[in-house]
Amino acid sequence: MEKLGVGYIGLGGRGYGVLNGVIQMNDIEVRAVCDLVEDRMLKGKKLVEDKYGKEIFGTLDYHEILSRDDIDCVLIPTSWNAHYVIAMDAMEAGIPAAFEVGPIASVEQCWDLVRTHERTGVHCMALENCCYGRYEMAMINMIKRGVFGEVVYVGGGYEHDLRGLADNYAGGMERSYHTMCRNGELYPTHELGPMMTYLGINHGNRMLSLTSTSTKARGLQDYIAKHGGKEHPMYGKQINNGDITTTVIKCANGENMVLTHDITLPRAYSRGGRVQGTNGIWMEDGNHLYLDGMNEDHSWANMDDYIDKYDHPLWKKYKEKDVHDAHGGMDTLVLRAFFESVKNHEAPPIDVYDSVCMMVVSCLSEQSIAMGSMPVPIPDFTNGKWVKREELPKSPYSLYEIHDDLFEKKSFKYFDFLK
Ligand SMILES: NC(=O)c1ccc[n+]([C@@H]2O[C@H](COP(=O)([O-])OP(=O)(O)OC[C@H]3O[C@@H](n4cnc5c(N)ncnc54)[C@H](O)[C@@H]3O)[C@@H](O)[C@H]2O)c1
Repeated sequence: MEKLGVGYIGLGGRGYGVLNGVIQMNDIEVRAVCDLVEDRMLKGKKLVEDKYGKEIFGTLDYHEILSRDDIDCVLIPTSWNAHYVIAMDAMEAGIPAAFEVGPIASVEQCWDLVRTHERTGVHCMALENCCYGRYEMAMINMIKRGVFGEVVYVGGGYEHDLRGLADNYAGGMERSYHTMCRNGELYPTHELGPMMTYLGINHGNRMLSLTSTSTKARGLQDYIAKHGGKEHPMYGKQINNGDITTTVIKCANGENMVLTHDITLPRAYSRGGRVQGTNGIWMEDGNHLYLDGMNEDHSWANMDDYIDKYDHPLWKKYKEKDVHDAHGGMDTLVLRAFFESVKNHEAPPIDVYDSVCMMVVSCLSEQSIAMGSMPVPIPDFTNGKWVKREELPKSPYSLYEIHDDLFEKKSFKYFDFLK
């Protein structure tokens, strides 16, 4: 079998972890690795070489990967500010690129990605793994099958105690600096990616405008006072990012999306998912499901009792494989969605328009907060195509449509990479 040659750029915590999964796939060959930090590059290089039993190329300069002729695509799990630059350079070099998730710095960067894709015909994709989470995909399935009736409201959040970011500041972790310097919804994609698929954003619907509001920032300095005090390298530094940022997005078809960014106070992890329509509601917190007429006393049902029934057909197949990665299987699925699109020379299920829409909310929320929560328009990156999109590639990984016939085939070959 002809293997797909992958260039791998960014070998921090996430990059190294995901690399371990990529090299297990039997149709993929990681041919070159890169990080700005030599130790990290060498550690990643060794991981691949130990697995393949042969030497691979390693560099501190990603341009050296883009100029090779054995690279079919690149993965970019770098820190946030580098996603855009490397993805742009990859598309210019004719190499499809998938970058890890995070905020973007400006609307202009989003347009650059869109226009570079449109000019070169080369694709890029945000690796939003949560779009492939089991519950998120069950929601796509339930919505498409009309279980919630007409959906009017969706919610979600990045609600994750990351106060340890303060400890990473001294090591120069870029993310700590974003939290220190910017005030906005800095990590919208984990919830917004799935929410966009629920409401058909860029596919008959679009996000029109947003308002964003942040609380004061107290969590990190409280944490620092309790963990090192005056000796802590971040002690007394100005923190701009409010502890909780709430963003409300208005959609063309009348729905509201509500996003919560909540990373600097003590809490249990949640993506705070919520889908509500004329026939019922799902709430991730509490694992709640309620469908009209379900219980006479209006009490909640447990979503876990219904998940097998409502699983997306992709997950019905996937469960049989019993795959466990760092995030319960969704990391593998999002990577496969990208790799399959590269193999087929077609647009990925999260295309450039979807990718920039997920990210642009970060810098627009900063603008709204800076102007006292004023509404800010969200650009239509499709330039009108959202009203009637061209037919998209038919794939089991499609997020905006479910192609039941692909799952009915006896020879479902999409998980052969696990053999
Ligand atoms: N999808 C998920 O579930 C998930 C989970 C964790 C992290 N992430 C994302 O993964 C990305 C990386 O996160 P992390 O925690 O590993 O961060 P990190 O800071 O630990 O690692 C980033 C790495 O990128 C390298 N880098 C930066 N610019 C580079 C360049 N120009 N060329 C080569 N290497 C460069 C840095 O040296 C560093 O080693 C971020 O976008 C983060 O938001 C996603």
